[in-house]
Amino acid sequence: MNNTAPSPCFVLDEQKLENNLSLIKRVADQAQVEIILAFKGFAMWSAFPIVRKYITGATASSVHEMMLCNEHMKTKSHTYAVAYKDDDIDQILEGSSHITFNSLSQLERFGEKANDLGVSVGLRVNPEYSDVETDLYNPSSPTSRLGVKSENIINDLPDYVEGLHFHVLCESNSYALEKTLASFEDKFGHLLPNIKWLNMGGGHLMTRKDYDTGHLIQVLKAFKAKHKLHLILEPGSAFAWETGTLKTTVIDLVENGGVKTAIIDGSFTCHMPDCLEMPYRPKLANGYPEVDKGQYKYRLGGVSCLAGDFLEAYSFDKPLNVGDEIEFLDMIHYTMVKTSTFNGVQHPAIGLKKKNGDFELIRTFDYSDYKKRLS
Ligand SMILES: Cc1ncc(COP(=O)(O)O)c(C=O)c1O
Repeated sequence: MNNTAPSPCFVLDEQKLENNLSLIKRVADQAQVEIILAFKGFAMWSAFPIVRKYITGATASSVHEMMLCNEHMKTKSHTYAVAYKDDDIDQILEGSSHITFNSLSQLERFGEKANDLGVSVGLRVNPEYSDVETDLYNPSSPTSRLGVKSENIINDLPDYVEGLHFHVLCESNSYALEKTLASFEDKFGHLLPNIKWLNMGGGHLMTRKDYDTGHLIQVLKAFKAKHKLHLILEPGSAFAWETGTLKTTVIDLVENGGVKTAIIDGSFTCHMPDCLEMPYRPKLANGYPEVDKGQYKYRLGGVSCLAGDFLEAYSFDKPLNVGDEIEFLDMIHYTMVKTSTFNGVQHPAIGLKKKNGDFELIRTFDYSDYKKRLS
């Protein structure tokens, strides 16, 4: 597979993306909610013409994401950022249909202006419930900087606030959403009669095989019927879940202290940072994350000089040789958007495996891309 893709290369599978998009559209239609794409998880804009066949909106968390939404989703964005700067706010308001503030102080600073310009104003709250176990990805701890806690909303919200927003889930199921909603209602239910929309953030991994979409639709319909609100979900991962790979190649084999390392022309820290941050072990097309499954074991080493740029032993059915392909599965969400050119490591090309099986090379990166980020 991906014979004509260069190495390294992110390869998006068009059919798999369309499968995810059509599932998401079906959920949105059946539950009568709006589901928009969170660019922070997937922003491969060359694929947006495909995305636009199924959904119409996106959420942006910065001026640049907002500009991408305006230009390539061809619509104003739902914008939420941890904080807005005075210098950016006019541009943000011009390109946004909705703006969500993360704190009461930011709401006070910019809310009225947003409303006067016809942008629908929301406030992010912290329901203080989450099933996310990794602290790095848990936005709803009691000391989190993300969202206003109920104890801090002493007075009524200004009349112009039309929406509330929470984001507490990460690769979660509909049962976690149901529990989140119970906590949200408990803490913020009294505000619901005065608002028009509720944005339930991301983390709804409805395209994962074991996700109970029937239950999600039921939960959303019940909540909507009870509170008469327009509901918005803004997943990122769910759109690009299992839609493509990162192709790399073994460029050296080293052995030290009895540990064999296959050095690849990719890097975990530069191209797959969540493997180190979360951490997690991606699956391979041609090997096993389980160390005992194949007969031949190799640590996989990134080509940057960061000492920790490696994943502990994977196993293979055959010994590895220089030139062998190592293809990491499910490498589209939160990869392309997070890459760096640390060490000047070659940035992976970006390509599309089309529905007819053809490979289309969309973008390659060279010295000028590395140089342009610096001065
Ligand atoms: C505010 C907000 N919305 C949406 C998302 C998308 O979440 P996911 O990609 O897990 O669906 C995130 C992710 O961090 C987020 O912070």
